[in-house]
Amino acid sequence: MATTIRTETKTPTDLREWLKKVDEIGELQVVTGANAEEDIGMATELLGRTRPSKATIFDEIPGYKKGFRVLSNGLGSFARIALTLGLPIDASPHELVKRWQERVRKGIPTIAAEVTKDGPVFENVLRGDQIDCTIFPAPKFHEFDGGRYLGTGSFDITIDPDENWVNLGTYRVMVHDKTRLGFYISPGKHGRQHRDKWFARGQKMPVAFVAGGDPLLFLAACTEIPYGITEYDWAGGVRGTPYRVVKGPVTGLPIPADAEIVIEGFVDPNDKAIEGPFGEWTGYYASGEREEPVLRVHAIYHRNDPIILASPPNVPPDEQSFYRAFMRSARLRGDLEAASIPGIVGVWCHEVGGSRLFNAISINQRYAGHARQVGHAAASVHTGAYLGRYVVVVDDDIDVMDLEQVLWAMCTRSEPAESIDIIPRAWSGPLDPRIHPDKKGFSSRAIIDATRPWEWRDRFPISQLPTPAMKQKALDRWGWLVGKGERPKSRG
Ligand SMILES: Cc1cc2nc3c(=O)[nH]c(=O)nc-3n(C[C@H](O)[C@H](O)[C@H](O)COP(=O)(O)O)c2cc1C
Repeated sequence: MATTIRTETKTPTDLREWLKKVDEIGELQVVTGANAEEDIGMATELLGRTRPSKATIFDEIPGYKKGFRVLSNGLGSFARIALTLGLPIDASPHELVKRWQERVRKGIPTIAAEVTKDGPVFENVLRGDQIDCTIFPAPKFHEFDGGRYLGTGSFDITIDPDENWVNLGTYRVMVHDKTRLGFYISPGKHGRQHRDKWFARGQKMPVAFVAGGDPLLFLAACTEIPYGITEYDWAGGVRGTPYRVVKGPVTGLPIPADAEIVIEGFVDPNDKAIEGPFGEWTGYYASGEREEPVLRVHAIYHRNDPIILASPPNVPPDEQSFYRAFMRSARLRGDLEAASIPGIVGVWCHEVGGSRLFNAISINQRYAGHARQVGHAAASVHTGAYLGRYVVVVDDDIDVMDLEQVLWAMCTRSEPAESIDIIPRAWSGPLDPRIHPDKKGFSSRAIIDATRPWEWRDRFPISQLPTPAMKQKALDRWGWLVGKGERPKSRG
């Protein structure tokens, strides 16, 4: 039975409007009394691992001011991702993926941020002796974390000192004490490239850290937006209206006028403290703890009753790997098509690999070598390069979002001795659990060609997968046997 799909939703303008809309669709719950030392982390892990599960606001957190809240599991449903991106909230997962990938393929037009003089973020301004980062209920998310993390569903705003472009990147932020924050950026990330440039000049890097903001801006900040493009402009393009930014009084960086919490300061190359360990997206504490540069806080701005947007990684599949699979799959597809590779039918960066370690691409094979070209490109383009491991290329009869179908194709259409290429010394980093602690930096990639071999594809055994028409007919007629649809009335 065909479902009616509502038209695209209007993208909310900030976190508060977003929460109102999430509440309207019945996907918001509020919990009071959970503590930040343990409860919020445990509850977040459970929520992130269960789908569907509601976006959850924690309020009245013991030891903190009432109204100082934490929002977790914000993006843990297709409907909430759709709402954030302005897509129809009642479309099926496949339809949503198709629509979003089409939008990305057409190219997201950029809309420059609009500079304003003021905004709700300045409802409370803390300077000098008033500076205290510990007033916010930053949770300890995992049992063995080395501290409280104020920055997970957050982003850091930095500027390239040579090329003068602004980047928004999600890089975890730990609270050292009232006036110092620690943050970790993996090698090669845009914020890290900025930092390397500032430090190479022997200068401190200005940073504005946004601990709770508009979910769309957060999604942009944790997605591989191309080098040189400011995430404000990209996210502005997605929602069709410019972001409102204010020039940060301390750093001059553009900060979101409607953000919940913004902290400005400077990072000195010679001022370091231990950061971590932190439960990471691979499901391990792989980068351990090490010295990282410290952000010295010069000013804190926050709205009344501020909300920390939290999105800690847990063992995948979890909330984070889910929304990142959605975003990254579209970007990977865009990267492949930008490389002029034809015949891409489906792309899915599977949640189980944290949306990086196990990526599947289906193609309509057009020529000899096509499948290998796709696999190698997917492992090397911007979106797929960092800390990848397996790329599987399958034929277009395989649903790439269906992990079991992808594995079935691997089991039956690849022949290990012939079908696997290895790329050595590719881009990895400290977070890779499988690389020896003294040898972090590089890792290899396996490109698995699980397509029917080009030369004898016409003689490859016919698969028993039902054709789409037959599958639909079976569902219409017999779906009730498996709980899909109504049992037809007996004709007596
Ligand atoms: C919740 C969350 C936390 C993240 N933490 C980090 C981090 O601590 N360090 C890091 O390098 N990348 C981290 N990432 C990944 C980056 O946000 C991602 O690679 C993004 O594309 C970086 O921005 P850039 O492309 O502008 O460098 C995190 C992503 C998410 C969703």
